[in-house]
Parts: sequence; C-alpha cells; structure tokens
Amino acid sequence: MRVVIVYESMFGTTHLIADEIGKIAASQGEVAVVPVAEATPNVLEGAELVIVGGPTHVHGLSWPTTRAEAEAESEQYEALVLDPDAEGPGLRDWFHQVGDVDNVLGAAFDTRLNKAEVVTGRASKGIDRRLRNHGYRTIAEPESFLVDKENHLVDGEADRARAWAETLFDHLADRD
Ligand SMILES: Cc1cc2nc3c(=O)[nH]c(=O)nc-3n(C[C@H](O)[C@H](O)[C@H](O)COP(=O)(O)O)c2cc1C
Repeated sequence: MRVVIVYESMFGTTHLIADEIGKIAASQGEVAVVPVAEATPNVLEGAELVIVGGPTHVHGLSWPTTRAEAEAESEQYEALVLDPDAEGPGLRDWFHQVGDVDNVLGAAFDTRLNKAEVVTGRASKGIDRRLRNHGYRTIAEPESFLVDKENHLVDGEADRARAWAETLFDHLADRD
C-alpha cells in the first residue's frame, strides 16, 4: 500500500508525530512523509491512504497571521525552534489547490494544547472535513496529540501516535 503523510509544523511537534506514524506505515508498504510544500500532485499520485496533520492555531487550522505569530514567538523565545519547513505554505492553502480524488482513503490528526477540547479547539476536525470535501474517505475519527505550554509533546504521545497508526492499518486489514 502506498501511504502519504502530509504535515504542517511550525515548531516541529506535528512533524515528529508524522514521523512516528510514518514508522508504522513503513511496515505496510511504501510511505512518504512530506511537509505541505512537498505534497505535490506527483507525490500524491497513486496514494491509497493520505494522512494529514497540522498544529491547532486559534481553535482550528493555521492562518498566515498565526503562522507569522509563531515565527515571531520563535524569535522571542530561544527554546522555540522553527521546523525546517515552517515557512509554509499551510494546510489551509494546500487544501485550496489539492484537487479532488476518487476512492482514496484519508485520516486527520493535529497537535494541540493539553487542555479540554472546548478550550483548545482542534485543527483535525477541519482537516477531516476538508479531506472528505475533496473526496477522501476518512477511516478514523480525527485524532489529537498533546503538547504542554512549552510546546513539548506530553509524555507518551509519541507512543500513542504509533498506536493510532496501528489501529488505522488494523482497520484496513479487517476490511480485506
Ligand atoms: C499563533 C498560535 C495560536 C495557537 N492557538 C492554539 C489554540 O487555539 N489551541 C491549542 O490547543 N493550541 C494552540 N496553539 C498551540 C499549538 O497548537 C502548538 O504550538 C502546536 O500544536 C505545536 O505544533 P508544531 O510544533 O508542529 O507547530 C497555538 C500556537 C500558536 C503559535
């Protein structure tokens, strides 16, 4: 199975989760883990499952303004290091030009603060909706992986990301 994992990440956490999911996907066949900028039609060609994740900004997907805010924060706080592909584009723009598919599976995830969802919002719900609007058949509920206020992954979240990926592939195996 060809799997493409598309991530947006300002401070590297969503990138890290995408890599963890990629480790599990690699045991299922061919996998590409790519930042939004590299998720071109060529890379998506032939994908049977596309997993898309991004950071939660202002309760949903990032905007150019929130991405700029993140960059400004990284200039202010030494501990916040920008991911190599943080310059963008973001998922919101990517979805505007990604085109529609037929018979491709999808799944959505995000990273967000470790608080109640009603307080934080969740980018993954918007990602899931956009995937479905473009014809992807999503195979799991959108999932969040949590960071603390220093933007570090909460203990156990990398493990949980691999476990989530395993449930996706178990689900597919059950359907065969
Ligand atoms: C401008 C901005 C707005 C944010 N808004 C939210 C929010 O509404 N809810 C939330 O849970 N986290 C929020 N966060 C925290 C991000 O979710 C967190 O930085 C992100 O998950 C880390 O992923 P990354 O390292 O891949 O960028 C915000 C962060 C920034 C920079």
